[in-house]
Amino acid sequence: MGALDGRVAIVTGSGGGIGRGEAMFLAAEGAKVVVNDVGPAPEGANRTPAEQVVAEIVAAGGEASANRDDISTFAGAEALVDQAVGTYGDLNILVNNAGIVRDAMSFSMTEAEWDAVLAVHLKGHFAPARFASRYWRERSKSGADVYGRIINTSSESGLHGQAGQANYSAAKAGIASMSIVQARELQKYGITVNAIAPRGRTAMTLAVPGAADIISAKDGEFDGWHPDNVAPFVGFLASPAAAGISGQVFVVWGDEVIRMTGWMPATSIRNGDRWTIDEIVARQADLFPGEHDTEIPLLRPTL
Ligand SMILES: NC(=O)c1ccc[n+]([C@@H]2O[C@H](COP(=O)([O-])OP(=O)(O)OC[C@H]3O[C@@H](n4cnc5c(N)ncnc54)[C@H](O)[C@@H]3O)[C@@H](O)[C@H]2O)c1
Repeated sequence: MGALDGRVAIVTGSGGGIGRGEAMFLAAEGAKVVVNDVGPAPEGANRTPAEQVVAEIVAAGGEASANRDDISTFAGAEALVDQAVGTYGDLNILVNNAGIVRDAMSFSMTEAEWDAVLAVHLKGHFAPARFASRYWRERSKSGADVYGRIINTSSESGLHGQAGQANYSAAKAGIASMSIVQARELQKYGITVNAIAPRGRTAMTLAVPGAADIISAKDGEFDGWHPDNVAPFVGFLASPAAAGISGQVFVVWGDEVIRMTGWMPATSIRNGDRWTIDEIVARQADLFPGEHDTEIPLLRPTL
């Protein structure tokens, strides 16, 4: 008996990296999985990355089907949701994971770099959720049972802000906020929406200059950067045990899960009337009472 027996899941961008581990884990827990990835078959191979992961799931005794729709379009997202419902008769779990990076400092970033990252991440998270939630809402209105879970993929780069990633950080911050919006919107249908900010050794992180050494497996030690370490917590969020958890953001990697909290009031000043600059200057120290309060917040180093 798996925790997800009989459930139907979609994992976007699961032809490799963290998504592959998530698809394989959900399948091992009994879910029927649609493995989505736009990646073409590598040179000399006769399977696309999505088909390869499906073959591995089936070889391990699971059930899965491949999909190559582009989730950054409404048409692709709708076709993906339709495939899950058409193939397996329902949809229960949507893991939005697909992603790309096009790093550049803001003063150098091209319009194409900005648009591509916002499309794949922010729109590519919204679009599948839009069609999945429409499906769940219609099901609910028809009186049928609804079991719905959305797990989005943010990033610490989005939660803290990373130089050189204005496009990626903006998209990932947007995904964290959007998860809270959708958690509120879907609460009445019993659907939960959460976000993870994962860390893992994948094509994406191995491409970061200087990262390979830091994230490599070390002999005799638990391999904290293994991308498959992320999947069990995603499986938990997808399971009935997490029915009461929604609108949350978790950093997930290695053996650690960190529940994050968002923007919180730090200090406040009031004047009883509209402010003048001079009055604000006079009260400035009340806004920044600590020695380092005026500095750019530290980014917890991940690499
Ligand atoms: N690896 C990390 O440490 C880390 C850290 C923070 C966030 N993330 C996020 O985790 C997710 C997975 O990243 P990863 O490290 O496994 O990267 P990865 O590059 O190994 O995998 C991403 C996959 O998404 C697919 N993809 C890209 N565009 C797509 C599209 N339009 N439609 C469908 N599939 C598409 C790619 O083909 C690829 O297989 C991403 O959202 C990434 O931003 C990763």
